[in-house]
Amino acid sequence: MSKKNKIIGLVFFNPSLRTRLSSQKAAFHLGCDTWTLNIDHDSWKIEMNDGDVMDRHSQEHIKEAVGVMSLYCDILGVRTFPGLKNRDSDYKEILFKNIENYSHVPIVNLESATRHPLQSLADAMTIEECRVPGNPIKVVLSWAPHPKALPHSVPNSFIEWISKLPNTDLIITHPIGYELDKEITKNTNILYNQEEALKYADFIYAKNWSSYTYYGKILCDDTRWMITCEKMDLTNKAKFMHCLPIRRNVVAEDAVLDSYISLIFQEAENRIFASKAIFKRILNASSCCI
Ligand code: CP
Repeated sequence: MSKKNKIIGLVFFNPSLRTRLSSQKAAFHLGCDTWTLNIDHDSWKIEMNDGDVMDRHSQEHIKEAVGVMSLYCDILGVRTFPGLKNRDSDYKEILFKNIENYSHVPIVNLESATRHPLQSLADAMTIEECRVPGNPIKVVLSWAPHPKALPHSVPNSFIEWISKLPNTDLIITHPIGYELDKEITKNTNILYNQEEALKYADFIYAKNWSSYTYYGKILCDDTRWMITCEKMDLTNKAKFMHCLPIRRNVVAEDAVLDSYISLIFQEAENRIFASKAIFKRILNASSCCI
């Protein structure tokens, strides 16, 4: 089916480099056009709450904003980070679900409060490309230090996607107190000793996240959790992975990132093919319904 004359709208409530540009390139490959809106900079101030008396700073309600934007595209990609204040509201994905309800077209998750599926699809593709076919592998998701409180979307999605790969042993390692949602980690081993976890690993995926229990809080700033060449030497000649953006010499040291063992660019490139696969599938499905 031709994707010509189809338009993919990309709406960002938060910053992005890879998601925005890889989505644009994916759409270009499919013959689609795109438009992008950065809500904070390009648009009216949006009111998110139902029933609010809008007599202050917000000029447009999310109902009208999404309803109208979805008239101008065939797929609407949306990025909405969590507030990291109210766990219940973030984990119910209230904003993302509201956007789905107000839209007239299919929504693609460009990273919501608790999930980043296109990143994990790209990460899964990268692992599959780099492993020896048929051989079992050990993948370690390691918490790493970061000066800011970060969402759980990348580790949550990574656990869900990578635990489904065949012949793959996924281990999580983090300081005590950084346990993620048990519903997501219930079938995955957790080790509090990072060096023990890294032993014999084939892939190391570094990522910071804030506390789930003390929601959105930073509990540990122990720089010894940074990924170094010394730590990579404990592994089975593992490859290093990170979704980017990464704080150099905080999450991982320069020598790891600049080494041949780093897959960060391959992951970023695979974001194009992950987006392309999802956009194509949705457009094909939509054309069947018309
Ligand atoms: N990995 C990722 O989603 O990058 P951006 O935040 O730059 O889109």
